[in-house]
Amino acid sequence: MEQYIIKGGRPLRGEVSISGAKNAALPLLAAAIMTDETVMIDNLPDVRDIGVLLQAIESIGVMVERVNPNCVKIQAKNIQTTRVDYEHIRKIRGSYYLVGALLGRFHKAEVVLPGGCNIGSRPIDQHIKGFKALGAEVFIAHGMIITEAEQLAGSHIYMDVVTVGATINVMLAAALAQGRTIIENAAKEPHIVDVANMLNSMGANIKGAGTDVIRINGVPKLHGTEYAVIPDQIEAGTFMFAAAATKGDVLVRNVIPKHLESIAAKLLEIGCTVEEYDDAMRVVGCEYQKNTHVKTLPYPGFPTDMQPQIAVALALSNGTSIVTESLFENRFKYVDELSRMGAKITVEGNTAIIDGVSGFTGAEMTAPDLRAGAALVIAALAAEGFSLIDDIVYIQRGYERFEEKLKGLGAMIELVSTEKDVTKFKLKVS
Ligand code: EPU
Repeated sequence: MEQYIIKGGRPLRGEVSISGAKNAALPLLAAAIMTDETVMIDNLPDVRDIGVLLQAIESIGVMVERVNPNCVKIQAKNIQTTRVDYEHIRKIRGSYYLVGALLGRFHKAEVVLPGGCNIGSRPIDQHIKGFKALGAEVFIAHGMIITEAEQLAGSHIYMDVVTVGATINVMLAAALAQGRTIIENAAKEPHIVDVANMLNSMGANIKGAGTDVIRINGVPKLHGTEYAVIPDQIEAGTFMFAAAATKGDVLVRNVIPKHLESIAAKLLEIGCTVEEYDDAMRVVGCEYQKNTHVKTLPYPGFPTDMQPQIAVALALSNGTSIVTESLFENRFKYVDELSRMGAKITVEGNTAIIDGVSGFTGAEMTAPDLRAGAALVIAALAAEGFSLIDDIVYIQRGYERFEEKLKGLGAMIELVSTEKDVTKFKLKVS
C-alpha cells in the first residue's frame, strides 16, 4: 500500500504549474462521446478518476487514443452498447455524466450508480427530475440508473438545490433534445461554463452558463472539436493554502485568477500577501496569521472542496475561527486526524470551531477522502518532524503528480510502499 512520508517544518517556496480541472474534465470526456466525429481534449489532468472514466468509455466501444498523458483523442463512432457497468466506474462520481451524454445521443442509458468520496449523502434526485422533464423514463434497479426516452423534448426545469452535477447532466442531455430547455437555479461553477463552451464548439447552442439561468436550444447533431480543459481551481487553492500554512512563498502558475477570488479573499483576511498576475497568483504566508470565519457555498462562494485545506491554515492561526460546511454533512472526518498533530478543533453539526495553535507535530494519519487527504499533507508539511499518511489513493484520484509538484517547492515528501522506503527517506533527510 502506498503512503506519503513527510518531514515538515520547511516553508514551501518557488513556482508550481496547475493542471487541468478534474471536475471539468470528467463531463468534457462524457460530452466527447456525444458525436461520432473525433474530439481532442488537451490539458487533461493525469489522475486516477480520469483514467477510470476513459477505461469505462473504452469498455462500450469508444476509441481512446492517449496522445500524451495530458491529451486524448476520442472517437465514439462505434459505440456498441449504452450499458456502462465497467467494474471500477462505481468508485467515481463523474460516471453519472455518461447518463446525460448517452441519453442525449441515443435516448437511452444504463449506468452503474455513482460512488465518489464519502463526504455525505449524495442524492441524484435533481438529475432524475431533469431527465424526466426532458421526457425520459428513469428507474433505479440493480444498482444502475436506467433511463430511456422515445424522444427528448426541451423543458423548463427549476433545480431545487444548486447542484453542479445535475446542472451539467441536464445540459448534456438537453444539448441534443428537440426545442428549448431552460435550467433555472443552475450552478455557476467555472466547470459548467467549460462544459457549455466545449459543447458549443461541437455545434450546441447553449447560452447563460455561468449565470443561474441556462438556455439550451437543442440541435440534431454535434460534431468534433479540439478543446483544452480549464485550470483546476481547487488544485490551485490547495497550493495557495499550502503556502499559507507553511508560511512560504509560492507562485501558482497557469490559473484563471477570477476563479480564485473567494480563496484569495480568505488568504488576505488571515494576513497573507496575495499578488495577482494575468495567469498566476503569488501567495506569501506571514508569521502571525489571524483567525477568520468561513462558510462553504456554491460558486462564487468559498468552495466546499477547499474547506479542509483552509481549516489546516486556520488551525495554525491566532485566535478562534469558525468553519461552516453547508453542502456535505460528512466533510469533517479529517478533524480527528489533525487532532493527532495537536490541532484544537471541535465539531458541532456542520460547524467546526477551531482554536489556533502555534504549531503541529508530525503523526501517522489516514486520508479520509480526496480534499481532506490533501489537507493532511499540508498539515504534515507545516508540522515539526515526520508524518506518515495512509490511503493516499484518494489524493491520487484528483491531484496530478502531487508529491512531485510539492518537491519542486522544496517539500520533503516521498511516496513509499515499504518500511525500507520509510527508513531510507528518514536517513536521507536527517
Ligand atoms: N444534491 C441534491 N440532489 C442532487 C444533486 C445534488 O440534493 O440530485 C445536493 C448535494 O447533496 C449537495 C449539493 O446538492 O449538498 C451540491 O451537490 P453537487 O451536485 O453540486 O455535487 P456533485 O456533483 O456530487 C461535484 C464535485 C465535488 C464537489 C461538488 C460541489 C465532481 C465529480 N464532484 O459533486 O467534488 O464537492 O460538486 O462543488 O464534479 C471533489 O472533487 O473532491 C469533490 C467532492
